[in-house]
Amino acid sequence: AAEYPERWGGVLDLPADGGDYSADVDHATGGSSREPIRLRDGRLEVAGIVTAEGPAAAPPALRPDASYLVTGGLGAIGLVAAARLADRGARRLVLVGRTGLPPRSEWDRAQGAVRVRIDAVRALERRGVAVDAVALDVAEPGALAAAVAERDRAGAPPVRGVVHAAGVADASLLSALDAAGARRVLAPKVAGAQAISETFPPGELDFLQLIGSAGAAYGIPGQGAYAAGNAYLDAIARARRAAGDRAVSLAWGAWRDTGFGADAAVVAAELERRGTRPLRPREALAAWDRAEGLEVAHVILVPRPTADAVRPAGDAPSWADRSADEVRSEFEHGLRAILARELRLDDSELEADRPFAELGLTSIMAMSIRRDAEQLVGTELSVTMLWNHPTIADLAAHLTERVGAGGAEEPVHDADESAEESAGDGDAFLDSLFASAEEDAL
Ligand SMILES: NC(=O)c1ccc[n+]([C@@H]2O[C@H](COP(=O)([O-])OP(=O)(O)OC[C@H]3O[C@@H](n4cnc5c(N)ncnc54)[C@H](OP(=O)(O)O)[C@@H]3O)[C@@H](O)[C@H]2O)c1
Repeated sequence: AAEYPERWGGVLDLPADGGDYSADVDHATGGSSREPIRLRDGRLEVAGIVTAEGPAAAPPALRPDASYLVTGGLGAIGLVAAARLADRGARRLVLVGRTGLPPRSEWDRAQGAVRVRIDAVRALERRGVAVDAVALDVAEPGALAAAVAERDRAGAPPVRGVVHAAGVADASLLSALDAAGARRVLAPKVAGAQAISETFPPGELDFLQLIGSAGAAYGIPGQGAYAAGNAYLDAIARARRAAGDRAVSLAWGAWRDTGFGADAAVVAAELERRGTRPLRPREALAAWDRAEGLEVAHVILVPRPTADAVRPAGDAPSWADRSADEVRSEFEHGLRAILARELRLDDSELEADRPFAELGLTSIMAMSIRRDAEQLVGTELSVTMLWNHPTIADLAAHLTERVGAGGAEEPVHDADESAEESAGDGDAFLDSLFASAEEDAL
């Protein structure tokens, strides 16, 4: 739905009782919903986001004689989690990551990212916190359980709380996603959460916090695998809460300049498109404090969206009443203004048949042009639009057809275009859009 809205049909969740729901299906599919629709007790329901109101309860008390485990604990958010646990009284932390830390004898010579981690660990130690940095892959079957069993045998205090912050950043549109890429992103989330669940069965922990992402709720392009992995965390949190545990999935929007958030320009552009923005670290900490005290399994933490998010297709201007020529000319004019603004050029310098690739367009500009073009047209557009229609004239003609100007039926996505979009060249575009944070040319 987020990447190819013109191909999106919908998801309908029907009761599994073998009943005939064809009339409800017709009714539900008559509209267009980006969200899954569920039919229960004769009602069609769509999941929505509600504002968390009311006073939050006190966060769980931490015990100085217990251990607390943070997976991804040497990462950006993992270290923030560790410091927060120390603030609240934790005195034994186990920080898990695949890489771990170098031997202590090498700490003084360490540089760069390793240095940052060492400094953070030393800061914890100065506060009287015993820190174990354990190198293991939480997605590796049995690895976490073995490490915890070894600690138990050595008489270490039992783990009473877990923050699961392990994750890898990788963005890829579904058309460019292969099994290995999907597995890489899903492993720390899905296999990692399973390993935690098995190592610490319900009732063993005072709290379980799963660090997820708002991408699953917002539908950010390029996050097919990542959003699925994070949605799995949401489900684990619900299941553990249903079993009586204090479990929560904290579905973060992007943290500004922090961890994954630091090079998430495409994500930031998408959040802006939805009327929100990355979180400032101070805001993130305040939100974390508050979310911890809420009696819910799944919290989305983003700055409150403002009204100027992309309008849903329902409010779209009626182009069908106007002639195709008139609409195409209006779109050409509008697109020229959008491109001129983005490229900081004069409108007159933009010929309608000049390929975008020659204009120095970058991936970030492409995202923001898409957002502005959606405002112009009043409907959601595909992220690959600028690739498939690479001049102003071509794009204006495509959009004219897309909105059904002149009373034309809105075209169903045709086979030619599907082939074009999934062709190898399309993947090169996707790489340029997502693989690097550099200002790569389109
Ligand atoms: N930063 C943001 O804006 C943001 C927004 C939304 C959600 N999040 C979530 O927050 C979590 C932390 O992200 P971050 O921004 O702090 O990124 P980060 O600095 O890259 O931290 C992630 C950590 O996870 C560890 N890790 C990855 N795979 C692992 C595995 N299989 N087993 C054990 N450890 C593993 C990595 O260490 P090794 O490579 O050494 O294993 C790394 O230290 C992620 O799960 C992410 O989904 C972040």
